[in-house]
Amino acid sequence: MENKSALWRWIKGSRVYKSIFRHGYEDTKKNRILQIRSNVFLHIHPVKIPDHAYRIRFTWCMGGITFFLFLVEVMTGAFLMFYYTPTPEQAYRDMLYLRYDVPFGMILRNMHRWAAHLMIFTIILHMLRVFLTGSYKPPREFNWVIGVTLLVITLLLSFTGYLLPWDQLSYWAITVATNMIGAMPFIGHEGPLSLLDRYHDIRFLILGGSEIGSNALLRFYVMHIIVLPVTGMIFMAVHFWRVRKDGISRPL
Ligand code: HEM
Repeated sequence: MENKSALWRWIKGSRVYKSIFRHGYEDTKKNRILQIRSNVFLHIHPVKIPDHAYRIRFTWCMGGITFFLFLVEVMTGAFLMFYYTPTPEQAYRDMLYLRYDVPFGMILRNMHRWAAHLMIFTIILHMLRVFLTGSYKPPREFNWVIGVTLLVITLLLSFTGYLLPWDQLSYWAITVATNMIGAMPFIGHEGPLSLLDRYHDIRFLILGGSEIGSNALLRFYVMHIIVLPVTGMIFMAVHFWRVRKDGISRPL
């Protein structure tokens, strides 16, 4: 028990803990209120916003444009879902159907594709800007970490979306990528220091089998339309709320 509370005290005193939970740490009435006010899930609106938080001169608005492109993806993706069935028999036929028969189908699909490419481009520019203006430094280091998670989610959205057309390009790209994952140390069956076989490794978990087939397509689809976008939205809410709280950084 002694040890547990010493560990807890150590965690609460650490820099990482204090970068996430910003209220006072004594158990007082004021700190209990602050605990609620400074938690995005318990108190979504920031209590106050500093003036300079509205200035965007140094941001290039790249975060805003990335968010706009995410919204374009959600809108066009929702329309694409009306015409797409995630089965090996139907998926590619739906691509042809969208291309030749669905009114505005081609433009819809291309909007989804180009906004995805652009989103990768703008997120990199956004990171570059944050890096160049030193905005990753305290008190914004927690938001940088949230940002890195958003970057990973965005890349995974592209990765999972790539298989969905079920054409030769997608099939072989995902074959190569998942073979690389199967060669990871410890968790891939072909990787160094691995004790796993091809039916119990990380590749098997991702594909839902040892080969790319209907299970893989379904898994990628569910990740692409539900798991990753919803997780992304939650992280974006925290990201924006932190921006409002900390204020956009000033020039160095
Ligand atoms: C889906 C991806 C992302 C979206 C939608 C997004 C959105 C935003 C927005 C709207 C802002 C306000 C200022 C601006 O527009 O530049 C911002 C600020 C910030 N972002 Fe992101 N962001 C994303 C990814 C990232 C990534 C990958 C990083 C870094 C690894 C990052 C780190 C930060 C930091 C540290 C700030 C505060 C900057 C400051 O105060 O000057 N964000 N983000």
